[in-house]
Amino acid sequence: MATDTNAPGEPHPWPEPVSMFDTSIDDPGDAAGRRLALLLGGFMSTQVVSALAQLGVPDELGQAGRPPAELAAALGLPVVPLTRLLRAATTFGVVRVNPDGTFSATPLSDRLRTGVPGSLRDSAIGFVLPPLWSALGNLADLVRTGTPADPQLMWDYARDHPDAAARFAGAMARQAATLAGCLRAAGYAPPPGQRIVDVGGSRGILLSYLLQAVPGARGVLFDRAEALAAAPAVLAAAGVEDRAEVVTGNFMTEVPDGDLHVLCHVLHDWDDEIALAIARNCYRASHPGGGLLVIEYLLPTPAEPSLSYLMDILMMTVEAGGERTREEFTHLLGRAGYSFGREVPVTSPGRQLPQRILEFRRV
Ligand SMILES: C[S@@+](CC[C@H](N)C(=O)[O-])C[C@H]1O[C@@H](n2cnc3c(N)ncnc32)[C@H](O)[C@@H]1O
Repeated sequence: MATDTNAPGEPHPWPEPVSMFDTSIDDPGDAAGRRLALLLGGFMSTQVVSALAQLGVPDELGQAGRPPAELAAALGLPVVPLTRLLRAATTFGVVRVNPDGTFSATPLSDRLRTGVPGSLRDSAIGFVLPPLWSALGNLADLVRTGTPADPQLMWDYARDHPDAAARFAGAMARQAATLAGCLRAAGYAPPPGQRIVDVGGSRGILLSYLLQAVPGARGVLFDRAEALAAAPAVLAAAGVEDRAEVVTGNFMTEVPDGDLHVLCHVLHDWDDEIALAIARNCYRASHPGGGLLVIEYLLPTPAEPSLSYLMDILMMTVEAGGERTREEFTHLLGRAGYSFGREVPVTSPGRQLPQRILEFRRV
């Protein structure tokens, strides 16, 4: 493994970002042109990095340079296209090429290894799956026509491609780990509830945190079968497996009963009609005095540049869903029988995530 040796304030040990479109700019001092070139060149860097991750290349790289033929043999890949991919990755600093033509790891390729703390391998694969990539490729058409995307496309794909479903769940687990880390740092305690049901809870990273935060509580992790495959290991690693059950089902039909239902990054997948049906199923399954915890990328009011806008585009193109303002959630969930309690920012020292926690109570 390569080590990231740069101290705070020192230059990074990888090259300045480059873009294929740098050669389309006449004046190298043209800051706006260069900035736009970098934005436009993103399609290349995304696919080069994702391909490395998909092919497992970072797991084979080390500090010592390896000849491309040796890497190709280890990975079971044809040597010429692999060499071309590795060379392309050197322009982004994701792989290092040595004077003898061997390739070695960099701090960036190390973050694409399997199972290292904070690995972005699943993110590099799971958020670049064919349905996501091709849906984003249709963005202009979607805006031109206003035709909603197929809301089941992604989930049908996950059902039919277990490996892809695992990478997608892994990508969401990485996000959930960052979220849970912030909640832990802030000491966030959920509203009272002895039976917490995480609806669409995937691998259970968030439920694990909530059960740790409420020592006597029991939890239900509810999701589609393919999303739950790695959940028992996650719950066991958090030491909450004795207090959590894993339940497979369809939240459009019904959800398990509980005192506190959790919908984290779930409602944004759906339009208002389906989101309302899911919320109503939570309400029907909630105990008297029950609550609902919604965690989403909130649209800022007043409007200001926000990562929530990018997530909103992803939801619009891939799933016919979208992000909402707090007022929109209050109105929507009010129709399901919930009243708004409070909004909690997701922060840790020096950081604020675009997501917000919205706490609701049964009316
Ligand atoms: C965007 S992910 C959010 C996962 C998790 N809550 C998180 O924040 O990381 C949405 C989740 O909803 C689940 N899901 C989609 N359709 C579902 C359905 N009909 N019934 C139950 N779960 C479903 C997916 O499998 C996925 O785990």
